[in-house]
Amino acid sequence: MERSEKSAWGQFHRESKHAIDPIYLNRWSPRSFAEKTVEAEVLYRIFEAARWAPSGSNEQPWRYILARTPEDRATFLKFIMPGNTAWCDKAPVLALLLSRKLSSRGEPLRSHSFDAGTSWGYLALECVRQGLVTHAMGGFYPDKARELLNIPEEYEAEVVIAIGYQGEKEALSEAFQEREIPNTRRELEETIFEGKFGDSLS
Ligand SMILES: Cc1cc2nc3c(=O)[nH]c(=O)nc-3n(C[C@H](O)[C@H](O)[C@H](O)COP(=O)(O)O)c2cc1C
Repeated sequence: MERSEKSAWGQFHRESKHAIDPIYLNRWSPRSFAEKTVEAEVLYRIFEAARWAPSGSNEQPWRYILARTPEDRATFLKFIMPGNTAWCDKAPVLALLLSRKLSSRGEPLRSHSFDAGTSWGYLALECVRQGLVTHAMGGFYPDKARELLNIPEEYEAEVVIAIGYQGEKEALSEAFQEREIPNTRRELEETIFEGKFGDSLS
């Protein structure tokens, strides 16, 4: 396979300095989605992975509202920001990730967003295993989502996730085509400190 062909799938733009499973490098957030349905069984698998995420006191505060039918997807597009609807309207599945802000005892749950994020991470990685791509979006109007989807007050709308099979880059507008490439990360040395904030590892 040519290097350029492979790069479209994110194989060459990402390198890890330490040996890790390639799944971490191969997960990225493209914007082009193929017009291909995601089978229910495949959907169950990715949400099964999300289900097994750890959470504070095992409260599992995450909930997902799915939009798969043309009607439900049209409703979702009403609360997603235009910069995102410009590409995510082709995604066969849109999922709104919610987190319950209260524990089962009705007390504030400090880790609700953190736990929901862990669940999304599990889902995103399982999508790679299932041959799917994901793209999370914070660019949506939570109040509008709450109203349109009857979301109770104790749940926070965290993120909308586009899920599907990757489409051709050429199907995107030119501006999005330029961005349809896996990005990279800052150096590990800038992320992990030892002893106190800012001190490098010895
Ligand atoms: C919480 C969150 C919100 C995001 N919001 C948007 C968004 O509104 N629009 C968008 O195009 N990408 C969005 N992204 C995608 C990020 O820009 C992307 O994950 C990041 O640049 C890393 O790239 P990668 O996912 O390809 O590795 C979001 C990602 C996360 C996790």
